[in-house]
Amino acid sequence: MKGIILHGGHGTRLRPLTHTGPKQLLPIANKAMSQYALEDLKTAGVTEIGIIIGDVFPEKVKEYYGNGEKFGVKITYIYQDSPKGISHAIRLCKDFIGNDKFIVYLGDNVLRKNLIDYTKKFQESNSDAMILLCKVDDPQRFGIAELDKDNLGKIKKIMEKPKTPPSDLAVIGIYFLTPKIFKVIDRLKPSWRGELEITEALQMLMDDGNKIEYDTVTGWWKDTGTPEDIIHANKLVLDSIGTENQFLIDSDAEIKDNVVVGTGTIIDNDSCIIGPVIIGKNCIIGPGVQLGPYVSVGDNSNLKCCTIQDSIIMRDCNVNAKVDFDSSIISHGSEIMASDIPKKCQLLLGERSQINL
Ligand code: G1P
Repeated sequence: MKGIILHGGHGTRLRPLTHTGPKQLLPIANKAMSQYALEDLKTAGVTEIGIIIGDVFPEKVKEYYGNGEKFGVKITYIYQDSPKGISHAIRLCKDFIGNDKFIVYLGDNVLRKNLIDYTKKFQESNSDAMILLCKVDDPQRFGIAELDKDNLGKIKKIMEKPKTPPSDLAVIGIYFLTPKIFKVIDRLKPSWRGELEITEALQMLMDDGNKIEYDTVTGWWKDTGTPEDIIHANKLVLDSIGTENQFLIDSDAEIKDNVVVGTGTIIDNDSCIIGPVIIGKNCIIGPGVQLGPYVSVGDNSNLKCCTIQDSIIMRDCNVNAKVDFDSSIISHGSEIMASDIPKKCQLLLGERSQINL
């Protein structure tokens, strides 16, 4: 079986974070979002992976993943000239896929459970496609599946972002497919949003009499389209971290619950970390810092005097401010200074921002 990770798209709802890189490389708990997809595929035994890159900083994706050796997989890059939809991206992979069954994983989807059981089920089945469904509160935002009322094991209809959804079962961005899908995509027309939709391709596949099965997702699934989604995904991933490498912590610092600290990081005295929190390598945290719960701090960042919760501070940041951050995302290389008057704020900062509060 082969795997495809979609790494294109403009990520407009995530600006300014996506002005300097593709959204799928934004870190969640200090790991690029699409690395979760790659590791899920690898864990399921899928090591031949095609990554679809678009016109948004494709070189950064290649720099991050290289030929895949570092991650224990073999990567082939496939270019999509403009974001014309998931089905369009899949069609570009026809030669790469050959006659194999394959899994398409949207690089901005993060799933709690690994793919081992689903992959085994699809490998052993004679279905022409398998989709994963997850109950959601806002079905208008997603592809939706309606089940057959008389036979709940059967899908009746699949549609893209319906205004009046017939169910709350979202079709998540992980699709198990066979090469039969390519012929269907050749007949697809662009949707109202100008894209070749995967949901329309799946519906056509069913209309042609092919068998599509489904499984339901247990645990959480997150599509990370907005900054709020990224902060929520960070929270969900941090909920399952353990505790590691606490040897460089000053004896006066206080650590509670699960906290992961990278090598070379110093937690200075008079600081308090309440997990779950992850801190990268070579950071200086303190004095006077209160972190957590639900904070990720990237490598080489220095934090002084601040209080941070529910936030992502990326690598190489410098915060020296009596500031209380909540639900914030601070991109790589940013610097935040402030006067001595304590402030509360919520920030969304693009790469290398400089702020004097
Ligand atoms: C895409 C698919 C949609 C699916 C969603 C999952 O939506 O078109 O069917 O439910 O991914 O993340 P988009 O992210 O393009 O709005």
